[in-house]
Amino acid sequence: MSSVKIADKILRKPIIQGGMGIGVSRSALAGAVAKEGGMGVISAAQVGYDSPLFKANPDEANLQTLPLEIKKAKDISENNGMIAVNIMSVTQQYGTYAKTATQAGADAIISGAGLPLDLPEYVKDTNTKIASVVSSKKAAELMMKAWDRKYGRCADFLVMESPFSGGHQGYSHDPLSNLEDANQVFEEDVRQTVEVKKTYEEKYGRHIPIFVAGGIFNGEDVQRALSLGADGVQVGTRFIATKECDAADAYKQVFVNANPEDWMIIQSPVGMPARVIRNAFVERMLHGKEKISYCYNCLKACNPGKAKYCISQALIDAVKGDVDNGLIFCNTKVGQIKEILTVKELMEELVPST
Ligand SMILES: Cc1cc2nc3c(=O)[nH]c(=O)nc-3n(C[C@H](O)[C@H](O)[C@H](O)COP(=O)(O)O)c2cc1C
Repeated sequence: MSSVKIADKILRKPIIQGGMGIGVSRSALAGAVAKEGGMGVISAAQVGYDSPLFKANPDEANLQTLPLEIKKAKDISENNGMIAVNIMSVTQQYGTYAKTATQAGADAIISGAGLPLDLPEYVKDTNTKIASVVSSKKAAELMMKAWDRKYGRCADFLVMESPFSGGHQGYSHDPLSNLEDANQVFEEDVRQTVEVKKTYEEKYGRHIPIFVAGGIFNGEDVQRALSLGADGVQVGTRFIATKECDAADAYKQVFVNANPEDWMIIQSPVGMPARVIRNAFVERMLHGKEKISYCYNCLKACNPGKAKYCISQALIDAVKGDVDNGLIFCNTKVGQIKEILTVKELMEELVPST
């Protein structure tokens, strides 16, 4: 299996571990993935949730914690692979987070949940690579065109996410009700994006790798992604059931115990559909509402006056282990997870060393 070159960096294994907030992918998981030659991704979403400063000043706590997590991950990686930071485009103070990650030496910044149109601005004159997560050829093209026109720069790589993925979806409810059809459209979009990006590859004189995300469970799924013309994969859900994942053991155990029918799509408080584990909390929120006693002012798209619950609080409760009273994102394959592996074992299963 071939390695992937991202500008001047090389990934020995063509695997990106998807950024998972809140607190699911921090330095332990990201560092372990990079150590095995992949790209480990720290999610910037409330990354300082367990800092003593957090309740009084969440942004300050996050901005202090992020550089520490990047440093820890790099130490664990022993200079293998890459350490990236995932910053959602809808993050309040997006630019401050992006600059902080860059200054702390993040090898890349990956942004989804909207289009990170100004990202090149924040990595100017640094070696930090940039990528966006998109769900269609149209969005991929739009991003590449916007960065080219405004900044004279191209994406260093792209992540294309299918409708099988965990967490927030780049799809509306309609396609999500017919997953097989939506995935066929997605796969055709990946093939076409491989062609569309050639214009930029020629202009900038380098290859722009594509990583396919969403529902990657085993080596066969990796091979299918590569057969579309992709260079690698981004994997989220499966990395949760690893020894190194930063979440509480009770959280990981939910994934080991889940049955195939245990996921569902909800409308998240930030206005996008999201795929989650069907648990007591989600059942309660389908019909009810929780009092929001504190607003972290975290996402531009959230309206605390209208939201049924605080998404930050629900994700923090879950990652700490209160799995019946918190929100847990997952993909469509969650029911197939049967055991907790080490990161090394999982990456070897997905892409065996030759
Ligand atoms: C628990 C969880 C948390 C996630 N958090 C984020 C996040 O903070 N930002 C983001 O862009 N994507 C987030 N995602 C999406 C992942 O980064 C990844 O793209 C996706 O999970 C890939 O699909 P898979 O879960 O089918 O492997 C999350 C996914 C999960 C399962």
